[in-house]
Amino acid sequence: MSFHPAIRPRRLRRTPALRRLAAETRLHPAELILPAFVREGLTEPRAIAAMPGVQQHSLDSLRRAAAEAAEAGVGGVMLFGIPETRDAVGSAADDPDGILNVATRAVAAEVGDALVVQTDLCLDEFTDHGHCGVLDAAGEVANDATLERYAAMAIAQAEAGSALLGLSGMMDGQVAAVRAALDAAGHADTAVLAYSAKYASAFYGPFREAVDSQLTGNRRGYQQDPANRREGVREAELDIAEGADVVMVKPAMSFLDVLSDVAQISPVPVWAYQVSGEAAMIEAAAANGWIDRRAAILESVTGIKRAGADAILSYYAVELAGWLR
Ligand code: PBG
Repeated sequence: MSFHPAIRPRRLRRTPALRRLAAETRLHPAELILPAFVREGLTEPRAIAAMPGVQQHSLDSLRRAAAEAAEAGVGGVMLFGIPETRDAVGSAADDPDGILNVATRAVAAEVGDALVVQTDLCLDEFTDHGHCGVLDAAGEVANDATLERYAAMAIAQAEAGSALLGLSGMMDGQVAAVRAALDAAGHADTAVLAYSAKYASAFYGPFREAVDSQLTGNRRGYQQDPANRREGVREAELDIAEGADVVMVKPAMSFLDVLSDVAQISPVPVWAYQVSGEAAMIEAAAANGWIDRRAAILESVTGIKRAGADAILSYYAVELAGWLR
């Protein structure tokens, strides 16, 4: 017997030129966003053991990293601050002299319009208990009292020069609260990125080291259950109704179905976050010689784009931009 199929999808896979032309998904540096950590009081950047290649920056090294990202054509930076002192309500978060606000001013002055300067709007780096909100008498994260803290943080970040506030705390009504506070304070042009579908994930592990997290316990009382797909869409719909300019799904790799669902219903851009643990898996496997590091990074980020992300937060943003040139 011999077989001669008439339909041969392999024809378009035959040469690099054919494969390039037939590619359905393309990555571009402008749709990549670099998350960056800045730690109060540092004079030199400090390595993060669980995140090879990523640092806790000093103000100076952060400025240089932002300039380098702009030079590489990356679309934006997302800043995270690590304060020297923490308290129950995260006072440093809305203090204009708090590290995140100081760093935002410094980076905005450094890069001007070459990069969209964005800030994480959440209390977990600033509270001494490590939760994303303030606690009530029973030790539970108090939703509505936290909204007041987020509103104050939003104004401080907008005043520091953040163009896009990344609301990552998963409190109900946070987009509406922040939007109202910004508008009342004369910051109608400051945009809101809602981490709409943010799951209580094991893949945030390395990030917790990066920000010296004080958390004991977990965030399952406010972040979503990884078992839930429909709920991710509902969270995005609520945030869009509350005025979110961008919605996000996070982590990316284990929630590509949710990302795809949200991309289908969303009238606003949909972003995804390739989180610390996703990078850590790639780094650990590559360090052991078990996977091809570059191919794995490209496949992972291409998959996130293919699933429906318009832009992607990735610790590899600058490195990827270099490869894509
Ligand atoms: C909360 C926040 C977290 C991440 C981004 N924003 C941690 C958490 O929710 O516990 C994780 C990002 C990553 O793992 O790369 N401020």
